[in-house]
Amino acid sequence: MEEKRKIIMDVDTGSDDAIALVMSMLDEHFDLLGICSVNGNIEVKLTTDNSLRVVECCEKEEDVKVYKGCDLPMVSTLTPWSPQSTGIQSWGLINEPPRKNPRRSGDRPGDKEVHPEHLPLPEPRIKEDSRSAVQFYLETLLAAKDGEITLVPVGPLTNLAVAMRADPRIIPKIKEIVIMGGGHLMNNSSPASEFNIWVDPEAAEVVIQSGCKITWVPLDATHAAYITVEESKKIRELGTKPAVLVADLIEQRTIGYARSDAEMRDLKGAPIHDALAVCAVLHPEVLKDVLHTNVHVDVGGSYAYGQTIVERRIRVIEEEKNCYFALNADRKMFYDWMYEVLKNDKEKRGL
Ligand code: RIB
Ligand code: CA
Repeated sequence: MEEKRKIIMDVDTGSDDAIALVMSMLDEHFDLLGICSVNGNIEVKLTTDNSLRVVECCEKEEDVKVYKGCDLPMVSTLTPWSPQSTGIQSWGLINEPPRKNPRRSGDRPGDKEVHPEHLPLPEPRIKEDSRSAVQFYLETLLAAKDGEITLVPVGPLTNLAVAMRADPRIIPKIKEIVIMGGGHLMNNSSPASEFNIWVDPEAAEVVIQSGCKITWVPLDATHAAYITVEESKKIRELGTKPAVLVADLIEQRTIGYARSDAEMRDLKGAPIHDALAVCAVLHPEVLKDVLHTNVHVDVGGSYAYGQTIVERRIRVIEEEKNCYFALNADRKMFYDWMYEVLKNDKEKRGL
């Protein structure tokens, strides 16, 4: 086997983050160096706890640790009336109930199914490491060779941005950053922004301006690569604990999406956003219609706050092209990869 791909996951575990973590731990082509948690779908205490539950479900507690990350975005919640402070997304559509927990992704129809506070797993016996996510980034990256480690942030980018600001010497150590986030023709937290970027727009722009190689896996791609309940049944038949968890979460997400997304309701499926980013690290060909272009994040704090602004004009010259941005994905290739990893894991366990 060729050399394993060294990666660090950065998650706001959540249901699709959980599936992404399972794949990053079970695909033998990865060398998962650590898991950083962050505030996002739910508060960081809960995203940390959920990540620990998934590590135990995969029986990887001896192989990988969880490092608790930032509990608040860099600046977007400093003003108590900001949407990020109140959690009111989509400009407070009239059919949205008032917020209870400001930093949750909200109590919109389906939110509780899509990102429950606790994953359907036992309370973890293991604890997070004593070092914070930022400390882990700094120590691990500074000790690495240039271009050695791939980062896979699938939640708000606060941890990585703070680490980059704290010590820019980590930047040359990064091989690539594969971000689940952003949207071009598709958005969710407002007409202009996707949740991971919307929570902490400034962090995303700090990461963009680092000059690292960035591959975006936005909503345009993740919604094209939805997984169906029918497919989750085949995964469940594998019968291992990780496979059953993945099937449970796909079905839970499908229920949640059916309550707020007519297209997904008809397709009887749900996007598994974060796991597609993990797949794209090893199999970039899963991403389709990939633009090599210029993207920046709006940090103006108004209607487009958190928008990933994708340059589509032909005029863009070479040096301005700062990232790769996928507008589509191969749904079958994504599902086949997910099923193959879980099947191999079953065979490795001798089941
Ligand atoms: O917009 C989708 C993203 O927001 C996913 O990463 C999901 O887990 C949430 O964090
Ligand atoms: Ca996420």
